[in-house]
Amino acid sequence: MIGIFDSGLGGLSVLSAVARANPGADLVYLADTAHLPYGNKSDEFICARVLAIGRHLIERGCGTLVVACNTATAAALSALRGRHPGIPVVGVEPGVKPAAAASRSGAIAVLATESTAGSARLSALIRAHAGGVAVHVAACPGWATRVETLQPLDADPQFAAEVAAKVLPLLDAGIDRLVLGCTHYSFLAPLIARQVAGRAELVDVADAVARQVLRLSDGAGSGRLELLATATPERLDAALPALGLGWLAARVGGAAQLAEI
Ligand code: DGL
Repeated sequence: MIGIFDSGLGGLSVLSAVARANPGADLVYLADTAHLPYGNKSDEFICARVLAIGRHLIERGCGTLVVACNTATAAALSALRGRHPGIPVVGVEPGVKPAAAASRSGAIAVLATESTAGSARLSALIRAHAGGVAVHVAACPGWATRVETLQPLDADPQFAAEVAAKVLPLLDAGIDRLVLGCTHYSFLAPLIARQVAGRAELVDVADAVARQVLRLSDGAGSGRLELLATATPERLDAALPALGLGWLAARVGGAAQLAEI
């Protein structure tokens, strides 16, 4: 069984890629909705949550863990791996490497939470994989929380203006790749793409993460999906159709459950 978790709904973008790549695998998705957003919390807080959730998922029978959150990966992936050395733990990091490799203009940008944007792990990723390419890192406070509202953001002119104000200066600086460095932003991709208007390609690593999960887990099971949340589990049930993931409902055994962690 593969356990996938995030602060909230963002990791559903990773879950959907993993479910497509592993049709037979049994999956558990856990949203730490009692503590979101992670993006404005301290590393210590996030690390404590990640370790508690990891333990909970392993106790439920998960043999592979996926930290479907860039923020939690930056703050706590090493600690989680250190705590469970026998278990494959896959994290999600902004796609700096593929974006830098594909860039023709020599400039890329990363959109991320405040925590990820300021993290040592992102700085190290940029140093390791973006040699010679200018990397602009833009924190986007509040964007993940907007996704959590499940409101049709495409129709919100105020939010569209906020997105435009963030991305237009990056485009004017010459970027040709825009990395979605928070799993929630996958659900904003159509809105962001509209503001980008073909001037840069969006880079999302969900499919690459799913391939990595496929390599590390045996994929065995009956294709069952269990949904858990640390608060308001019913919002997870509502999120599947609202975020265009209605097809996943066929794999869900029952209503999302509350997990007190
Ligand atoms: N979805 C998370 C990420 O990928 C974090 C969102 C949040 O809780 O701030 O960074």
